[in-house]
Amino acid sequence: MGQNELHETARALVAEGKGILAADESTGTIKKRFDTIGLESTEETRRAYRDLLFTTPDVEEFISGVILFDETIRQSSADGTPFPKLLESKGMIPGIKVDNGAKPLAHAEGETVTEGLDGLRERLGEYRKLGARFAKWRATYSITDELPSEYCVWTNAHALARYAALCQEAGIVPIVEPEVLMDGTHTIERAYHVTSRVLNALYTELFDQRLDIEGTLLKPNMVLSGYEASSRAGVDDVAEWSLHCFRKHVPAAVPGIVFLSGGQSDEDATAHLNAMNACGPHPWQLSFSYGRALQAPAIKAWAGKSENVETAQRAYYHRARMNSAARSGLYAPEMEREAVTV
Ligand code: 13P
Repeated sequence: MGQNELHETARALVAEGKGILAADESTGTIKKRFDTIGLESTEETRRAYRDLLFTTPDVEEFISGVILFDETIRQSSADGTPFPKLLESKGMIPGIKVDNGAKPLAHAEGETVTEGLDGLRERLGEYRKLGARFAKWRATYSITDELPSEYCVWTNAHALARYAALCQEAGIVPIVEPEVLMDGTHTIERAYHVTSRVLNALYTELFDQRLDIEGTLLKPNMVLSGYEASSRAGVDDVAEWSLHCFRKHVPAAVPGIVFLSGGQSDEDATAHLNAMNACGPHPWQLSFSYGRALQAPAIKAWAGKSENVETAQRAYYHRARMNSAARSGLYAPEMEREAVTV
């Protein structure tokens, strides 16, 4: 596969009005989500839940691609169609989470480094055969008065770039996800400085390791006040600080910035994306790659019961439609109350 196919895939993932569904929760994380509805997490309940999402009628109007977990990329819809084939047939690009999670970083209390590089070349080859056209690797950074350390920032940037280079070698678009966690009492200024340091290190490593930047996507946190801060920045301030940060640190060659929701409420995640797009045009597409902010109302509506599948699909379709509107700054909170129809 030539470079242009990587560019095309990256651009297709941030096509106008569209964004990505992150449905790549690891077995541990999806169990936590199922615990909230009192549902046992088994291979079959996980499959049924993903089937519900992927077969939602017409959601492909708003969803360009779906990130899958290792188990999910090998599973099939109720009619026997493998999930990657099902997604492709609906015009959604299959993707795969390939990191093995954030593990304690040696000699750095309270900090993590993401693992999964060993054997990655072989795994990418297999995932591509299974239909994956893009991948995701998430690094995490905590904010305290002292953290993150330079050691943590650069170690994770190095690993993200090694992962990304292996993806491009395999003909897979790498989504690089450096997530500065928003737990804590920090101010939005502090989040801005930390996110800036993280992005500066990331793009230094990506250039040093010879990445073709136009064949990558960035999945960052938005710049927010800490969730436990005494006074929290409003929607316009979030948009302003975030845009200030990305304009300084994200090259214009990056086709798109696809945000994670990171524990924001689903409506906050939509409103913030909308406010940023309302200030456009920007050098890159500003889109979404949400997990919780796309799925939370659907999982609650489903509650593990087959009779609720349609209601859950309507809830997912609605959130996808709201975020699609936010892609062009045309979202308004009143739209939340409009009739939800599939
Ligand atoms: P959230 O939107 O729930 O943060 O998940 C996105 C994601 O893929 C995290 O890696």
